[in-house]
Amino acid sequence: MRSAPLTLLLSAFLCALGCSDGDGGGENGGAGPTSGPGGTTSGSGGTTATTGGTTSGPGGTTSTTAGPTSGSGGAGGDMAGSGGMGGAGGSGGSGGADARIPAASASSLREAGSKANPPILIGAAISGSGLNDGNYKRVAAAEHDYVTAENEMKWDALEPQPGSFNYGAADNIVNWATSNGMKVKGHTLVWHNQLPGWANSLSGSAAVEQAIRRHIENVMGHFKSKIKHWDVVNEAVITDSDTGVGNPRMRPSVFFNAMGAEFIDFAFQVAREQDPEAKLYYNDYSIDALNDKADYVYEMIKGMVDRGVPIDGVGFQMHIGPPNNEAGGPDVAANLKRFSDLGLEVLISEMDINRCGGVVTAEEQLTYYHDIVEACFSLPKCVAITFWGINDGRSWLNSWSGALCNGQSSQSLLFNDQYQKKETYNRVLEALLGR
Ligand code: G3I
Repeated sequence: MRSAPLTLLLSAFLCALGCSDGDGGGENGGAGPTSGPGGTTSGSGGTTATTGGTTSGPGGTTSTTAGPTSGSGGAGGDMAGSGGMGGAGGSGGSGGADARIPAASASSLREAGSKANPPILIGAAISGSGLNDGNYKRVAAAEHDYVTAENEMKWDALEPQPGSFNYGAADNIVNWATSNGMKVKGHTLVWHNQLPGWANSLSGSAAVEQAIRRHIENVMGHFKSKIKHWDVVNEAVITDSDTGVGNPRMRPSVFFNAMGAEFIDFAFQVAREQDPEAKLYYNDYSIDALNDKADYVYEMIKGMVDRGVPIDGVGFQMHIGPPNNEAGGPDVAANLKRFSDLGLEVLISEMDINRCGGVVTAEEQLTYYHDIVEACFSLPKCVAITFWGINDGRSWLNSWSGALCNGQSSQSLLFNDQYQKKETYNRVLEALLGR
């Protein structure tokens, strides 16, 4: 499964010559209303010097590759290190940072996470509609202390018209979270999907840079007192299959097509300027274990670290089963470890395990839930585990083409439709208690 380094280098080299492949269509099975920019204009070999003077960048020559090759500069990396969201540096164990000490007991996931040393945040994707349901709210607040808005902080929701911002739905979620003692991760500042039409129509590096800057400054500025963790760039890499296998390359998008891979560094630089204290993350799917896409993203992130781009960590979405990858505990552990060895935090950012199509059996699902959570918990620099929803009936997978559900329940989460704990919940709690 793993690509040889030579293959990776060759692939990056070919992309530098212009791998404009017309988007490959369905990210995660497609269906995103605004995805798919056609990809006909991506830069080839790019010499688009960055404007605005704020980005690092290799001597004014912007590569269109994932960045493993480029150069110098950078704005004083606020690298992850310890601290932050309870990061490394617990007092127990040999040397303090080698192991996380579990709580002796806990009656909720969030209690198990907060009593561990160092603590680990337990998150959930929360939808505005879910907060109209009393049971949903009760379970969400009782079991989690970290919130990601499922859709309400994406560009189409926040900036439906250029420069005109609509914060109502996002504010509802953020205010509910903070009033329940939960932290929030902003999701997501730069993503090719769920863009309003006007954004997808932008062209030219100056217009795209201006739009990215305006969006990040406004959104981070609005939430500055309440949100200190951000998915800055989401899903910038694709492979031939959504499982992360075959021909990893930069994803054509309105951002990449105009700026090349430099849009990633640029977004992180603008975010850091806006909030020097915030944790800034790259987030992607099917990079959970050891495969072509994970290798490519590793080289991309390593390049960013090497040239001082202010990135604090990487989110591994951990959508397991159709349409995404399968990943077992040992491979996940090895993958998280290599990224954390770059000096970064790592996070499980969108976990669910889809049972549709019988691709993942009930027993495999339980094993995956336990072993993947264990892999993160065992690594002190793995600072959060977020589940992508609360109960099965509300899972995005149920209606996502490519997820093989055809209207059936994906049975992918920790609670059933009556908000009762499933065996998946028990396995997750066991892993968080070191059992
Ligand atoms: O809001 C409209 C509604 O007005 C309309 O009537 C309805 C009809 O289909 O669609 C509604 O929009 C849907 C939206 O979710 C809100 O429910 C979109 O069609 C649907 O495509 C969208 O799906 C979301 C998906 O991102 C879009 O890419 C999922 O809920 C959301 O869970 C999913 O989340 C992503 C992460 O942000 C990034 N990583 C992958 C993850 C799963 O795809």
